[in-house]
Amino acid sequence: MRFVSQPGRGVIERFQEFLPRCETVVSLGEGSTPLLFSPSLSARIGRGCEVFVKNEGVNPTGSFKDRGMTVAVSQAIDRGARTLICASTGNTSASASAYAARAGIPCAVVLPAGKIATGKLIQAFAHGAKIVSIDGNFDDALTIVRELGEGNEFAIVNSINPDRIAGQKTAAFEVIEDLGNAPDFHLLPVGNAGNITAYWAGYREFRERGKSQTVPAMIGFQAAGAAPIFHDRLIENPETIASAIRIGNPASWKQARTALDESNGAVDIVTDEEIVSAQTWLAGNEGIFVEPASAAPIAGLFKRAEKFPEASRIVCTVTGHGLKDPDSIQRRIGKLEPVPAKIDKVRRALGF
Ligand code: F0G
Repeated sequence: MRFVSQPGRGVIERFQEFLPRCETVVSLGEGSTPLLFSPSLSARIGRGCEVFVKNEGVNPTGSFKDRGMTVAVSQAIDRGARTLICASTGNTSASASAYAARAGIPCAVVLPAGKIATGKLIQAFAHGAKIVSIDGNFDDALTIVRELGEGNEFAIVNSINPDRIAGQKTAAFEVIEDLGNAPDFHLLPVGNAGNITAYWAGYREFRERGKSQTVPAMIGFQAAGAAPIFHDRLIENPETIASAIRIGNPASWKQARTALDESNGAVDIVTDEEIVSAQTWLAGNEGIFVEPASAAPIAGLFKRAEKFPEASRIVCTVTGHGLKDPDSIQRRIGKLEPVPAKIDKVRRALGF
């Protein structure tokens, strides 16, 4: 292995035997994220259920995309790629541009205009990506990127690239290592459907290798206004506050369907109101601040609370950090009127 970056705890180093052979390793120390037992979510579901939160927001660029990006970019470098390209609702572009910077190659990103959360756009810009926004949605952007990737000028690092899925399956490996077995249920948000595909591949692989006895039922959540898999039809104008999963024609639709069917899982929807309320609840009750898309499985957990059998072990993946999308919260803060810098005034303003 030749490390472009310092050897660290990245997912390639940790799980190389389960991944495509990487001669070059471009890593930012992704993976090994905490699986947090959640007393308050467990209490809310009750009946002896145990709820855990896999916090992917603590990855180097603040989302789960880094697990797949380290493999995709390392492999692209091994194949002699000169420029990376991706379409994105924000996080893929943030991750791709960071790993491209680490590898020392340029990165082009195609984004739906006006629909990228502030923090994510700032990340891509800061890492020096070439950014183009289009009058269209994510699905239109991905169509263009697929075409641009047909020649040998650009290496596509969207999850249609199997190296991305390979890297992302390591999150399921970590869950099994932490719990000693697979959970009964795994809940996660679904957008382009790469991540649910990756988790399912990871769970299956570790069961085949004898590292777990079981596999979980995969439960995917889409936003009510962007729910093609739930409705089993293409959504032409997807709309939701959870901009990361504002997708009407998921690239891994078929693979997600397989994961849902083979695991005896389910796909469900949550409204924007349920998403915002779950986001606030998780931040206030567990100290975990996530972006709106990542609150979808928490909203879904609340919605389906009664459906989980007694003493179930449930894992919810929260996929991205809350600081990526400050705007939705900012609107609720309103204006903070200053008070005089006197202790009694501050005490009164605090209401204590
Ligand atoms: N959560 C977050 C925070 C995401 O950024 C995404 C996808 C998902 C969930 C859904 O994962 O697509 O594998 O089903 N974001 C992509 C992007 C589409 O461009 O950043 P998925």
